Amino acid sequence: MSIDKKFIDQFINVTSKAALASSYKVGKKDKIAADKAAVDSMRNELNKINMNGRIVIGEGELDQAPMLFIGEELGTGNGPDLDIAVDPLEGTNFAANNLPGALSVIAVAERSNLFNAPETYMDKIAILSSEKGIVDLDNSVTKNIKNLADYKNTQPDKLTACILDRPRHKKHIDELKTLNVKLKLISDGDVSGALLVTDEKYDVDIFLGIGGGPEGVLAASALDAYGCFFQGKFLFDTKEDKLRAKKMGIENFEKKYDLNEIVSGDSIFCATGITSGDLVQGIDIQKDTFTSETLVTHKSSRIRTTVKSKYKI
Ligand code: FBP
Repeated sequence: MSIDKKFIDQFINVTSKAALASSYKVGKKDKIAADKAAVDSMRNELNKINMNGRIVIGEGELDQAPMLFIGEELGTGNGPDLDIAVDPLEGTNFAANNLPGALSVIAVAERSNLFNAPETYMDKIAILSSEKGIVDLDNSVTKNIKNLADYKNTQPDKLTACILDRPRHKKHIDELKTLNVKLKLISDGDVSGALLVTDEKYDVDIFLGIGGGPEGVLAASALDAYGCFFQGKFLFDTKEDKLRAKKMGIENFEKKYDLNEIVSGDSIFCATGITSGDLVQGIDIQKDTFTSETLVTHKSSRIRTTVKSKYKI
C-alpha cells in the first residue's frame, strides 16, 4: 500500500498555512505566540483533509497541551488511516528572534508505521549513504569520522560535521577538532541539521549529536525517502521519562533504532520555511498573496524536491 500522491499538495498546504500564521509573529520575541499560531493553523487545515489522521508526535500529551496532542484524531474521517508527526514551529528561537531556519514540519505515514516517540532527547547520527557499518552510535566520534573518510576515499579534514552547539557535545566537538574536521555548529533546528546530509550541495558529510526525540523521528522520515543512513537512541534520564516510555510500549531503554524501525512503508514529509534558512526560503508576503517554499518528499513516488507555492491570503 502507498499514500496517494493527491495528499502531497494537501500537506504542503498544511505546512504553508502554518508557516504563514507563524510568520506574523516572527521577530516579536514571543516563542509561545509564534508556536501557537502555527499549531492552530495546522490543526484547522489537517481537519479539512479526507483521512483518518492520528497524531503520534505532537505538542505533548493530552494533559500538557490542548492542541495537536498525541493520540488526537484529525481529518474528516473519510479516507485512509494515517499516522502524523508534527512540529508546527521547529526553531521557536529562530522565529522569536527573526533568525534564519524556522520551519513548519509534518511527516505522515500509513497507520502504525511511524514511531510513537516520547518527548525525550535522542542521540542521532546520519550520513548520505544508506550502507550499514560505516558509522554507528556505538562507535567513538573518531572511529566514525575515520570510517567515513575511508569510505569517501578522503581525509577527515576534508569532511564537515553538523552538530548542535551545546555544552553536552563538548567531547564530540573536541574530538572533531582534533581530527581537523570542519564544523557546522548549529544553535537550534536539528531537523534541518540532519537533512543537510541529503545533498552534497549543503556540504555536510555527517550529522551527529543529541537533540529532541520527536525531531529525530521527523528527520528520519525525510532521510528515509532520500535513502540515507540514520540511527537514533532515546535517552531516558529521569524516572518520569522511563515511566512515560513504558506507557508508550518501550521496554528496552538502551535500544538503538535503525531508520526503518522509526519509519517504514510509504511516507510524505513537508518542511516549509517560516524564515529563510539552509533548506528553504521563508514566507514572502505581497499584498494579498503569499509564497511559501517547501521541502517535500514522498517515498513511493521518489519525490524529493522543493516546491514554491502561491496562495491568496
Ligand atoms: P524548539 O523549536 O522546540 O525550540 O526546538 C528547537 C531545537 O533546537 C530542536 O531542533 C532540537 O531538537 C532541540 O531544540 C534541542 O534541544 P535543546 O535546546 O534542549 O538542546
